[in-house]
Amino acid sequence: MEKKYTAAIIGAGALVGSGKKGGGHQIGYTHAAAYQGQPRVKLVAVADIHAENRHAFQQKFGVEKGFTDYRVLLRECRPDLVSICTYVGLHHEMIISAARAGAKGIFCEKPFITSPVALADVQRQAQETGVKITVAHIRRHLPAFIRAKELYQSGAVGQPLMCIGGIAGWDLSECGSHWLDMFRFFHHDRPVRWVFGQARVRSLRGYGHAMEDHAVAYFEFDGGGKGILDGGMAMNGPWTMTLVGTEGTIRIQREDTVVLDTVTGRKTETFPADGAYIYIWRKMVSDLIDWIEGGAEPVTGLTNMAQSAELNLAAYISALRGDRIDLPLSGAAAAIDQWPVELLAQRHRLPRKNEGSGRK
Ligand SMILES: NC(=O)c1ccc[n+]([C@@H]2O[C@H](COP(=O)([O-])OP(=O)(O)OC[C@H]3O[C@@H](n4cnc5c(N)ncnc54)[C@H](O)[C@@H]3O)[C@@H](O)[C@H]2O)c1
Repeated sequence: MEKKYTAAIIGAGALVGSGKKGGGHQIGYTHAAAYQGQPRVKLVAVADIHAENRHAFQQKFGVEKGFTDYRVLLRECRPDLVSICTYVGLHHEMIISAARAGAKGIFCEKPFITSPVALADVQRQAQETGVKITVAHIRRHLPAFIRAKELYQSGAVGQPLMCIGGIAGWDLSECGSHWLDMFRFFHHDRPVRWVFGQARVRSLRGYGHAMEDHAVAYFEFDGGGKGILDGGMAMNGPWTMTLVGTEGTIRIQREDTVVLDTVTGRKTETFPADGAYIYIWRKMVSDLIDWIEGGAEPVTGLTNMAQSAELNLAAYISALRGDRIDLPLSGAAAAIDQWPVELLAQRHRLPRKNEGSGRK
């Protein structure tokens, strides 16, 4: 008989979904729906520090066991699978606790991790405990993005030159981490050689941490091809992303339409995105279980996702240090053990030499 896996969720999700910047997307509900659509999984428990969030979740998904403290959940329930649906600043300790409590698989939200030191520790713990970690960069499975990559890498627009994108009102990590991950996907996940980043950080906070008002990342892949992500301002009209080649462009509108422009004319293809979502979330769970059972590590597994996280962190570290950051991270950059945006916010609060006191 097929093995049944127990699953638990840490971070149920806000009582009422807001869908706004700062939290309240109720991503725990999406993880729960993915587990409940999986015959190999039984969702057994949830932990949330807010009783009203926990109770609403338990009622909606018929989950009997609820805990305030996730460590008690891990100790008492010993789930096989743990979804971490809280904010990035909490992921490190939650991953380590779940791994040490014997979880076989962890399905963690993005942005994945706060610092290079925490990332290295997670990699070490995964090696030691054997826990399999997957990160929720689900867009890798959306048909429009898969088609755009096929076109970009098959010569449809000549030589790949650059992926560009701008996310109005957002950032490089809470929303932008998906875009950075996509740009890696479009370049076959080849290593990133270097990253330039710049950020305007003031007093904005969301998801439990400092957020930038506006930031930009510019980077190059090994073997050619670059990426520019504007986390804050739209860059190219209604287009989600533009992939530029020597002989044309591929543009993605929303997450369902791909427009190819070359000298031979324009070709538009549409792909259903709505129906694809729940299938993709279930696939993320079944890929994790297949990996636990000896199958291949999925593209959203730790090995690959560590590189997306490193790219994300490197853009902020570049802003922090006022220098290009070469990857893989090394030296002082690799020794940073805090969320770099928090450090940028702290730096803004300190008076800077030679700038007088007129800062707004
Ligand atoms: N993969 C995706 O497509 C996607 C979509 C939306 C959000 N997210 C990410 O998911 C994360 C959560 O965002 P959200 O908007 O769903 O949040 P949310 O505010 O809806 O839910 C977070 C929950 O975590 C709980 N929580 C906080 N601290 C806790 C602790 N110490 N122990 C247990 N529970 C705790 C809160 O009470 C809340 O219920 C963010 O990092 C966000 O970027 C990912």
